[in-house]
Amino acid sequence: METPQRLELGCDALDELLGGGIEHGIITNVYGEAGSGKTNFCIQAVVSCIRSGGKAVFIDTEGGFSAERFLQMHDDEAALERLIMHEPTTFEEQKGVFDDLPQVVANELPDMIVVDSLVSLYRLNLNGETAQEINTELSTQFSTLSKLAREHDLPVIVTNQVYSQFDSDENVMVGRDIPAYWSKTLLELEKVRNGKRRATVQKHRSRPEGITTDFFITQDSLTSAEGTQDESVPGADRMKIF
Ligand code: GTP
Ligand code: MG
Repeated sequence: METPQRLELGCDALDELLGGGIEHGIITNVYGEAGSGKTNFCIQAVVSCIRSGGKAVFIDTEGGFSAERFLQMHDDEAALERLIMHEPTTFEEQKGVFDDLPQVVANELPDMIVVDSLVSLYRLNLNGETAQEINTELSTQFSTLSKLAREHDLPVIVTNQVYSQFDSDENVMVGRDIPAYWSKTLLELEKVRNGKRRATVQKHRSRPEGITTDFFITQDSLTSAEGTQDESVPGADRMKIF
């Protein structure tokens, strides 16, 4: 068995947290509250992939991707052509995108896949009667991604929204057990103070659960918050690597 290849994000704190970057061959699930930095994380990963000559499939279900933001992080209009965008606006359209995905991957040979987010349209469509069918479809989509990740040794990033539980301060992923089951890495993002963001490994094949690091979202990248630690912030008692 070989050590998995990794896609470096180019943010030292996050790369170190993940043991060198985003693993190829598995699904990495980035989840967290609105504005915590999920889409920025995805764009930085895509920029990193494209900078090293790669191509990326980006499935944007929320209109969160912005070419302007991409160009702030990587000032090269031609690079946008190395992005294969899909923008489904209903869960039905999303299903179509996933049905076609194996063919798209076979034809285009991308170097990574991003789905931001897998669950927003799922959430809009979820209503009593069809919940079972929709859950089955969500599992099918995860299964498709997992298979493509393995067969083509691709890094796959999916984002997941969360909702907070009334009786605890824990955030729960939309879709609950389905994303947690299919994702070999679970990375939680949170907003802390003064614009700082915190990333926590909640599940990983080779990194300890609970390790965290802090970073900032800046004009042109995600940047380590090394040396700016504020020990009074919530969760500061967790294990730190920076
Ligand atoms: P949802 O999709 O709403 O769930 O949020 P998200 O987790 O995808 O968050 P996203 O990555 O879109 O982060 C949005 C935040 O990034 C904004 O609230 C800003 O604080 C920050 N941001 C975006 N662009 C810049 C920038 O150029 N400079 C700085 N400092 N912050 C930025
Ligand atoms: Mg987003």
